[in-house]
Amino acid sequence: MSLTERAHELIRQHFRDPGISRELAVDATCGNGKDTEFLARLDFRQVVGFEVQEDAIIQTRMRMDHLGFTNVGLILDGHESLGRHIPGEIDCVMFNLGYLPGGDKNLTTNEVTTLVALKFATDMLSETGIISLICYPGHPQGLQETKAIQRWLATLGAKWRIQMKKSSTSNEAAPILYAITRRKSITPPVPTRTAPPVTEQSDPDSQTTT
Ligand SMILES: C[S@@+](CC[C@H](N)C(=O)[O-])C[C@H]1O[C@@H](n2cnc3c(N)ncnc32)[C@H](O)[C@@H]1O
Repeated sequence: MSLTERAHELIRQHFRDPGISRELAVDATCGNGKDTEFLARLDFRQVVGFEVQEDAIIQTRMRMDHLGFTNVGLILDGHESLGRHIPGEIDCVMFNLGYLPGGDKNLTTNEVTTLVALKFATDMLSETGIISLICYPGHPQGLQETKAIQRWLATLGAKWRIQMKKSSTSNEAAPILYAITRRKSITPPVPTRTAPPVTEQSDPDSQTTT
């Protein structure tokens, strides 16, 4: 199973509970639209895809139209501008980083804009939402980006659960999949009022219970 398929499986499993909100999903790097199609099939009320290459947006639009999805919006803009286009909470964000397979390798994601988008995505993630992130440390820009992301992940703190999967454990250059979710907040139990100790009274017939 490829790492992309594993990302899909993870997201599918996450949303198998019908009670989990499926209002909005974002494909932060829609490329030719395979991940966008996956999200559209998951029955989100709305799916929005971001991509910097116009050709890729056209390909994805054709794909969506061909499949008859009417709930998919595509934005020709970098995911670093998510905040300008997405006004509210997001239930699922997919980042499949790097460059388009078979396309121009210079048009690759980079750590500066990816981190801006990731910070926005975590800020806007709904309580039951999930972010999937595939990093490609096998090329120089991808390695730099992966390291920056790993440093940022390490700062996220205990409120977040981060799962990591690698396609090959022994290979440093192997792609890495991260899944980021909020930890469920555990409400501390309401303390029960304990009765104060009964103190000896000077009057044996009177008992105070304050
Ligand atoms: C690995 S491909 C994505 C594959 C895609 N999800 C699919 O299913 O076909 C990475 C894509 O990110 C795009 N990209 C690069 N920088 C970007 C940015 N700042 N915002 C959005 N997309 C970007 C590239 O143009 C490329 O198409």
